[in-house]
Amino acid sequence: MEARVLVAYATRYGSTAETARKLAECLERDGVHAEVRPVGEVKELRPYSAVVVAAALYIGKLHKEARHFLAVWHDELSRVPVALLVPGPVEAQEKQFQSAEEQLDRELARVPWLHPVARKVVGGKWDPTKLQFPFNWTLKKIPASDARDWNVVGAWAHELAEKLQTMTH
Ligand SMILES: Cc1cc2nc3c(=O)[nH]c(=O)nc-3n(C[C@H](O)[C@H](O)[C@H](O)COP(=O)(O)O)c2cc1C
Repeated sequence: MEARVLVAYATRYGSTAETARKLAECLERDGVHAEVRPVGEVKELRPYSAVVVAAALYIGKLHKEARHFLAVWHDELSRVPVALLVPGPVEAQEKQFQSAEEQLDRELARVPWLHPVARKVVGGKWDPTKLQFPFNWTLKKIPASDARDWNVVGAWAHELAEKLQTMTH
């Protein structure tokens, strides 16, 4: 069976949507058919042989809509390979990545039924002009940054494509 992957994303400020689209583009280049949708617009999972959930971290938690998506689609997601793409660190600093990995570990401990076949914390984007209350008051002085690295996303897509092709054959 040919792998048909859904990349379902949850975003507050838009950058995770772009990262999800880049992932899908790279998967397609590696021969895996990939469709991208916001988690809230997913109507069925039956057509897909695997699902990637792309959700950023906010104050130590995965995007609320992504957590809701996991809960709602629990049964279907238990039957297909699930991978997680998690933007977080907004500076390319090892300490930020380490902390994001720990946050993700804690989030995954809340969904013990979920056994991702792959997970990747990637750089995120910080745009203080888009922040809403109360963060526009408390965090607005942190300068804008973009730690997204398409080479990293592409390399992970390559590994993931190989894994999914093996798993769905
Ligand atoms: C209010 C706020 C809180 C955040 N908290 C975390 C965090 O706890 N851990 C982390 O790694 N990144 C954190 N980030 C960085 C985001 O994950 C990053 O900006 C991401 O790219 C946002 O995705 P989006 O543009 O799709 O909303 C935070 C960002 C914001 C705006």
